[in-house]
Amino acid sequence: MNAQAPLPEIPKDRLPRHIGIIMDGNGRWANNRGLPREHGHERGADAVRTTVRAARKIGVEALTLFAFSSQNWDRPPTEVFHLMQLLNRYLVEERAEILDNNIRLVTVGQTHRLPEYVLEPMTNLIEASANNDGMVLCLALSYGGREMITDAVRKLARAVAAGTLEPESITTKSIEAHLDSSRMLPPLDLLIRTSGEHRISNFFLWEAAYAELFFTEVLWPDFQRENLIAALRDYAGRERRFGLTSSQVEDKEEEGT
Ligand code: FPP
Repeated sequence: MNAQAPLPEIPKDRLPRHIGIIMDGNGRWANNRGLPREHGHERGADAVRTTVRAARKIGVEALTLFAFSSQNWDRPPTEVFHLMQLLNRYLVEERAEILDNNIRLVTVGQTHRLPEYVLEPMTNLIEASANNDGMVLCLALSYGGREMITDAVRKLARAVAAGTLEPESITTKSIEAHLDSSRMLPPLDLLIRTSGEHRISNFFLWEAAYAELFFTEVLWPDFQRENLIAALRDYAGRERRFGLTSSQVEDKEEEGT
């Protein structure tokens, strides 16, 4: 991996700080070729390597990959086992590249549900990369947006029950403060989903409130640097209003310059 190489055609201030990707289509990629679904996941892991490398070179601050959902535990046990093996392999094989490139690994999700052979290299790499500041790579593992919001609300409910928090003091800010994503990651700017499906599928439900959505027909194993750049170009051309009017946004931009 070379030093950072921003895209000449996209000014740095038009790049998303945080990109999330729903990596969909591994199974269809394999089916189209008459191969078992596992082959699709293996090629999907190759696309993960390519995308992490590209995002780092381009200068994206944070990249979250939806690698395994809370609901994926209900897939056939052989597929779940294969995905866990792939995760283990990724964490072991990519360790040097992640560290050499100043990438910090973090995770969101109910990771205590992962098997020890994934948890061990994962925890190890999270610790070893904790001081890196080149890019944050966040793996969403055993992750569900509803589950994360439920956990946050449960913590607040405990504080109310203990008498240390007034129900009236619960705000969007306090809920957000109890989400791991808000502590470790910049706000989500761009959410990409591959494979032609137009759903959020329990990914960053809270975080996606004002994210720009980008859908591509490309199946995840075929996702290349060019596909990421296409999403970035599209994003750079969008006007983000956050509920304001266009002229208010323009005024704000002028104030900021
Ligand atoms: C969705 O495709 C993809 C997944 C459930 C798993 C994503 C896993 C990887 C990309 C590989 C391992 C990850 C890392 C970080 C090394 P699908 O199986 O639902 O595809 P389909 O909709 O075509 O059946």
